[in-house]
Amino acid sequence: SGPVVYQAEDATISQGAAESNHDGYTGTGFVNYDNVTGSYVEWTVNAPVAGPVTLELRYANGTTVNRPMAIAVNGGTAVNRDFNATGNWDTWQTSTLTVNLTQGANKIRATATTANGGPNVDRISIG
Ligand code: GCU
Repeated sequence: SGPVVYQAEDATISQGAAESNHDGYTGTGFVNYDNVTGSYVEWTVNAPVAGPVTLELRYANGTTVNRPMAIAVNGGTAVNRDFNATGNWDTWQTSTLTVNLTQGANKIRATATTANGGPNVDRISIG
């Protein structure tokens, strides 16, 4: 079995909105982060066993400016990631990192760290 997909539009959204006015998303849409520091999407991810997994985040950034976010698991130390320009809002790229999950339910939060907010976020895949 491949990675498990968790759509952003189905996750908990703080200061953002599920939208579908650009092309190329999976599921029913994507999350448009409000253009503020601290806007976030938080997924609840189930892990059958504790340990490291690959987290792939799919995003679009139609501006020319990086939209960095801090990725935190269960409120722990965040890892900062850049989400640079993808060319336009219909063009999606993926960013991959390794995160450590505990057995059972885990909260994975991607928080915008600049006043521009985050990129548009389609989904995460865990596998
Ligand atoms: C545009 C675009 C949105 C995007 C926003 C932004 O309004 O249509 O999808 O989220 O710019 O800059 O964050």
